[in-house]
Amino acid sequence: MFNFFKKKTDVPTTTSYLPLKVREVVKETADTVTIYFEQPEPYLDYQPGQFLTVVLEMDGKEQRRSYSLCTSPFVDPFPGISVKRVPNGLFSNYLNDKVFPGKTLNVLRPLGNFTTTFHSKNCRHFFMIAGGSGITPIMGLIKSVLVNEPSSRVTLIYCSRSEEEIIFSSQLHLLELANPDRLNIIHNLSKPSATWTGLQGRLDSELLTQLFTQAENEPRYEEEYFVCGPEGLMQTAQQVLEQLGVDQNRIHSESFFSAAAQQAHEDAMAGITSGLLSRDVTIQLEGEVHLVTVEPGKTILEAGLAAGLNMPYSCQSGLCTACRGRLSAGEVKMDEDAGLSEKELAAGYVLCCVSRPLSDGIDVTIE
Ligand SMILES: Cc1cc2nc3c(=O)[nH]c(=O)nc-3n(C[C@H](O)[C@H](O)[C@H](O)COP(=O)(O)OP(=O)(O)OC[C@H]3O[C@@H](n4cnc5c(N)ncnc54)[C@H](O)[C@@H]3O)c2cc1C
Ligand code: FES
Repeated sequence: MFNFFKKKTDVPTTTSYLPLKVREVVKETADTVTIYFEQPEPYLDYQPGQFLTVVLEMDGKEQRRSYSLCTSPFVDPFPGISVKRVPNGLFSNYLNDKVFPGKTLNVLRPLGNFTTTFHSKNCRHFFMIAGGSGITPIMGLIKSVLVNEPSSRVTLIYCSRSEEEIIFSSQLHLLELANPDRLNIIHNLSKPSATWTGLQGRLDSELLTQLFTQAENEPRYEEEYFVCGPEGLMQTAQQVLEQLGVDQNRIHSESFFSAAAQQAHEDAMAGITSGLLSRDVTIQLEGEVHLVTVEPGKTILEAGLAAGLNMPYSCQSGLCTACRGRLSAGEVKMDEDAGLSEKELAAGYVLCCVSRPLSDGIDVTIE
């Protein structure tokens, strides 16, 4: 195990770039690579399950995408991200095809709440439900649980298309062999080969219900649920957990894609918008107050960036919370709010990247 006892200095802020040098690129499957980085100086300070924002200049324009760290700061000497191709995707194809050892990628400092704190005295049963590239943050979490909490155990339910498309297949197998009593991996394939004997088809709620209710017979463990994958899988898991009355505080979910935010963005590009008025919005950022005008069809983030403000952001889909602000006056409509908890919504938090003004007099503070 590696320990890094170096002093943390000059920690980059939410908006300053951190150049990371690529150390190794590992081909996980035909359409997924893991990019490992050299440790920067000072070392990269992150929690398992958090993500990096990769910043690239594409066609003369700065673009950003979020990628979860697949590594554990407690186990892995070098931080890494795993990237699965999306058909016609700008970043995912670039990162699969054009990145090699020695190249430098600019990132923003690690962010995200898809994590937990660890303690050797904890006795928890983690249910991890992953689909496709959703295994990425879960991989870092599993490794961290196994090394930090000797009395905790993990059940991973991992949905992939076929045997060949199981990301981290051999790493997971080795982890299971090394932790036979503490790690149980259940693969579910939607398009397996004829020789596959495990679960197949769509992951159904009955199986999840069965697995989750087993936990009732193990009172010594406290259950914790982590879900990351395509929207359908996440909905199924969420519904089952709701039906079982699981406390929302024990459920952690991370989405990589929002169809609702994508649709709203496409509508805005096509000029289809419910708001017809320009709205004045006050943005408090880094201790300064700015008045910007949000044109019809634009978001508060877009207006802030157009006005030259150093607004923090990453996914631009209402998922990652990098652009979170607190609304103290006025009303907005969010295209997507999956990144915010019920508590945050009740406290007036909004995500500027998907917030469209519904009134004048909006005042938002970026914290
Ligand atoms: C918090 C967070 C963590 C993430 N972690 C990872 C990770 O660990 N590994 C990883 O591979 N990705 C991850 N993503 C997704 C990643 O940020 C990009 O969205 C993804 O790589 C696609 O970007 P792109 O530039 O290739 O595609 P784009 O050029 O942005 O999109 C191309 C087309 O594909 C569609 N599209 C984009 N993504 C999806 C999708 N997931 N499903 C269906 N259609 C889609 C778009 O709507 C568009 O039509 C994460 C996202 C978030 C918000
Ligand atoms: S930039 Fe990710 S939620 Fe707004």
